[in-house]
Order: sequence, then C-alpha cells, then structure tokens
Amino acid sequence: MAQRSSTNLWGGFNVALVLGLFINIAFADSPYRFFDWNVTYGDIYPLGVRQQGILINGQFPGPDIYAVTNDNIYINVHNSLPEPFLLSWNGVQQRKNSYQDGVYGTTCPIPPGQNFTYRIQVKDQIGSYFYFPSLAFHKAAGGFGSIRVLSRPLIPVPFPEPAADYTLLIGDWYTANHTTLKTILDRGHRLPFPNGIVINGRGPSATTFTVEKGKTYRFRITNVGLQHSLNFRVQDHELKLVEVEGTHTMQNTYSSLDVHVGQSYSVLITADQPSRDFYIAVSTRFAPKVLTSTAILHYSDSTTSVGGPIPGGPTEVEWSINQARSIRTNLTASGPRPNPQGSYHYGLINISRTIKLESSAALVNRKQRYAVNSVSFIPADTPLKLADYFSIDGVFRIGSIPDFPSGKTMFLDTSVMGADYRAFIEIVFQNHENIVQSWHIDGYSFWVVGMDGGVWTPASREQYNLRDAVSRCTTQVYPKSWTAIYMSLDNVGMWNIRSEFWARQYLGQQFYLRVYTPVKSFRDEYNVPDNALLCGKADGKSTASP
Ligand SMILES: *[C@@H]1O[C@H](CO)[C@@H](O)[C@H](O)[C@H]1NC(C)=O
Ligand SMILES: *[C@@H]1O[C@H](CO)[C@@H](O)[C@H](O)[C@H]1NC(C)=O
Ligand SMILES: *[C@@H]1O[C@H](CO)[C@@H](O)[C@H](O)[C@H]1NC(C)=O
Ligand SMILES: *[C@@H]1O[C@H](CO)[C@@H](O)[C@H](O)[C@H]1NC(C)=O
Ligand SMILES: *[C@@H]1O[C@H](CO)[C@@H](O)[C@H](O)[C@H]1NC(C)=O
Repeated sequence: MAQRSSTNLWGGFNVALVLGLFINIAFADSPYRFFDWNVTYGDIYPLGVRQQGILINGQFPGPDIYAVTNDNIYINVHNSLPEPFLLSWNGVQQRKNSYQDGVYGTTCPIPPGQNFTYRIQVKDQIGSYFYFPSLAFHKAAGGFGSIRVLSRPLIPVPFPEPAADYTLLIGDWYTANHTTLKTILDRGHRLPFPNGIVINGRGPSATTFTVEKGKTYRFRITNVGLQHSLNFRVQDHELKLVEVEGTHTMQNTYSSLDVHVGQSYSVLITADQPSRDFYIAVSTRFAPKVLTSTAILHYSDSTTSVGGPIPGGPTEVEWSINQARSIRTNLTASGPRPNPQGSYHYGLINISRTIKLESSAALVNRKQRYAVNSVSFIPADTPLKLADYFSIDGVFRIGSIPDFPSGKTMFLDTSVMGADYRAFIEIVFQNHENIVQSWHIDGYSFWVVGMDGGVWTPASREQYNLRDAVSRCTTQVYPKSWTAIYMSLDNVGMWNIRSEFWARQYLGQQFYLRVYTPVKSFRDEYNVPDNALLCGKADGKSTASP
C-alpha cells in the first residue's frame, strides 16, 4: 500500500502482474502506471464533526491520478469495506472497453475483502476528470479523487507551463453518513438541504494554496458534490479559463466561474496583487440558501492574513447562461494530438438521429422516484454489458426507453436505448423543472451546440454553435430550459447516461446507451477482460476469448 501521493506513481509495482499484461490486449507501446489502492472506512472531519468516510490508502479525498495521453493505468482496488464497492472514472472514455467503466451496468461489484484491477487506457485524451464510488450512496462518504491527463511532451499546450498545478475538489456535503442518506432515499423521501461546502475534503479556511508573487498557477476545479451548482472565485484575482473536460478553450477571463455538479474546469490564476492572503470562495448557486466555504490563496511572502468581506458571487441565472455560451473551443490549439482542435468539423456532419430526453420527478408506489422519458431506471441482477457479451436473455430489453418523451405515467424498468456504431446524433435535454440539471454521458465527449430558455423546437437549431462549441462530458441544463448536444457514436459499448444530481441518479434518473456493431472485431471492441469479476447470471461464465 505504498502509493500515497503524486511523487510515487509507481507504488505497488508488481513484476508478475507486468508479465501477465503482455499477453493481454495490444495496448500499444504506451507506458504503464500501477496503483495499488486499499479502500477502507475511517474517521473524517470535513465540517468539524466526526464522520465515517471512505478512504483510499488512508486518504480523503483519494490520491490524484496523474497520467499522460495513451498511458495504461492499472489500479488494483482492494475492497476492505464490509459491503460491495466499485469505482467509476468520470470522463475517462474507456475506448472499446466499457467493461472497465465501474458502474453497475458494466462491471460486477468488488465483494467485501476482494480486489479487482481496473485496466484503463486514457486513449487520445487530455484534461481534468475525477473518479468516484458508484454503488449505493457511497459518493456521500468520499472515495473520490482527481484524474489529470497531461499532453504528451511534444504536443504544444496553448499556455506557458504553470508554476504549479493544483487540484480543487469542491462539493456540497452532509454531516449525516451515507447509510443514513441512502435510507432516507430508500424510504421514498427527498434529501434535506446539505450542511456545508467542502474544499479538498475540508471546511472553511482549512485549505491553503501557496503562490509566489508574479507567478501563474493552474487550478483544476471539479464539482464532486451530490447536487448543487457551485460558484468559484478568488478575491481580487481573475480566472483565465484554459480547459474544460479535455478541450482547450478560448482563454477568456472571468471574475467567477459556475461549476455544475460533475463538471471539471482548469483556470490560470496569476499572483499579481500586493502580497497578502486572499479568500478563495465557493458557494451554492440556484439554491434556496447560499452556503459558502473558503480556502486561502497565500502569497509566500505574505504577512497579512485574509481580510475584508468574503467576495460574493453572481445571483442571476442569465449571468450563468451567458458565461456558458462564452465558453468555446480554441480551434487553433491542439488537443491530444498535434492537429488543431478545429480540424474536425462537427458542424458539417449530417445528423442521423435526434433524441429528446425529458426528466421528471414523481411518486411511484408512494415513493419518490425520478425518470427520463417516463422510465425510472432499476438495476438488473447482472451487469448489462456482461449479459450482452455472454448473450444472456432476460436481463434487459433494447428499446425499453423511447427516443422522445412519451407522456406516459412514470414506471420502473431497466432502460436501455439501442444505437448504431458510427451514427452521428443530436440529443436535446429538455428541463421543465425549476432546478439546474447536470447530465453526464460515459464513454464519450460531446459538443454542447446550444442552450436556451423555454421549450426546444426544430427552429432552435438556427441558434446552434456549429463552429467552436466546447466538447465535454457533462453539461448543465438551466431551469425551464433546454441544452442540445451533438455526439459521434465512435465508441462501441454499454454506456451510462445519468443525472449527476446524485439522489436523482440513485432513484432512477439514468439509463444505458448500447452502441452496437454486428461486426465482432478487436478493432471495434475488446473482449471481456480475463480478470473480470462475474456475478448474477454471468456467474460461472468463462472470460477466456471465445
Ligand atoms: C487495508 O487496510 C486495512 C486497515 O488498515 C488492513 O486491515 C488491510 O490488511 C489492508 N488491506 C490490504 C490489501 O492492504
Ligand atoms: C488482486 O490482487 C493481487 C495482488 O495483491 C493480484 O495478484 C490479483 O491479480 C488481483 N486480482 C484481480 C482480480 O485484479
Ligand atoms: C489559442 O491557441 C493558440 C495556439 O496555441 C494560442 O496561440 C492562442 O493564444 C489561443 N487563443 C486564445 C484566445 O486562447
Ligand atoms: C450512520 O448514522 C446513524 C445515525 O446517526 C448511526 O446510527 C449509524 O451507526 C451510522 N453508521 C455508520 C456506519 O457510521
Ligand atoms: C447531408 O445531407 C444533405 C441533404 O440530404 C446532402 O446533400 C449532403 O451531401 C449530406 N452531407 C454529408 C456530409 O453527408
């Protein structure tokens, strides 16, 4: 259990394991990074109250994963909790390899006392992402951490190397433990308002980032919370946005940034003020109550502690929509490859299918549930991907969720939507509710081509950005508004589409997109990994190549 921090990427290196790898899939000549993680319960005090948290190698939040484009990351996760556990990798595309996604629709839970080694390649990716525990309501207890995928050394990055690269995991937080929260949901109730905001696992003024006057720093900000959109700002400093979930953006400067749940952003902050300490402030947006937490930006030669009022955030919804629209791709910057990000003209490709997804909240059997197009997801007894791979009938039906809202009364099902490999689709998220929604799609990044108030109609397409929309994996949908995305279905597999509002995800606001090709080829999809855990109706099947 050596792995503790970024300085020890090779903790847990295991020669026998390495030899085993070479007979595995041709993960090309890219480097391997090995992690050995022990997941345990332990005491944490994020808001000053002792709580039972989920620790990884004793840490809360868990260790950062540092990687470079195309690296193979092997993470041996030992589950030392008394219950099943899985980690999922938000934003890591798992190309051709949805088995590694770590959600219950793709991967069997790691039983208590056992371990499973995720074999992940960050193929053709750069950017800021995070991992989190996907089962039960574990996410409310920690177990999350940041993932950063750096550009390969010869690929130009469109800004000078920062003096340091800091992780900021921000989120709303409950002092109740995850079992208590899960029980509330299982009984059919909504969760109460959270107790506070946590920054890197700690409460107000507990985290300090030291900077040297005149230097520029990268801050990777991810909202790992359960529900609330958060506004991020630094007293007297501007934020220069440079990256959003793997896309290098036009480098606009903002006085603050709205980060919706599940989203990641990188900003550059230059220490260009007279030396002292400044507030970093994070507060809830679009919420009935403003909760604020702080961290400290400390100039190394400062002798003056923080002072003055904690800077306030914006209050208008319109401000947030305008900011979202201003976030665009820098078409001349490179992404994971040396060619410009604008060399793929998504706006010129014909749409082969339009899908419209409407969320809803209702009582089913007198219990609170949430749905997409009237279907509230319930897990099957077997991961859907494994049922598909082993051709096990009776686990799910393709087409169990319609492409358009049906107007039906909400009902429960294991919803799976079928889609063709290489289709180019448009998805419209329509929000009739009075809350901000946040939607995530596993296995992909997509172009956020438009968002506006009201109800989407085909005429809304006239205002799409078909030139330099940002490509990302999690998008917000404002209250009583719509958001439209384009997505190229170039990744075969079983992919979770979910609300990042965690109680809603838990109570059914998710489904799976089965991207399918009849061709059985390694070029399109790998076989189930030979170390895969098998469960449910897949128990006892053979993972040897068919
Ligand atoms: C994980 O940590 C627990 C508690 O410290 C310890 O009992 C257990 O042996 C560790 N497991 C592994 C695989 O290191
Ligand atoms: C479990 O961990 C051991 C080493 O601690 C490793 O040899 C084995 O491959 C792991 N099992 C899986 C399924 O990853
Ligand atoms: C876009 O990227 C290019 C190439 O790296 C860089 O020179 C330019 O400053 C960037 N422009 C903006 C507005 O961010
Ligand atoms: C969770 O909180 C409840 C209520 O305070 C308590 O009864 C229970 O023991 C706690 N569970 C754990 C595992 O800490
Ligand atoms: C898109 O569709 C139009 C009209 O059907 C057609 O003329 C055009 O060639 C298509 N473009 C591409 C790139 O397939």
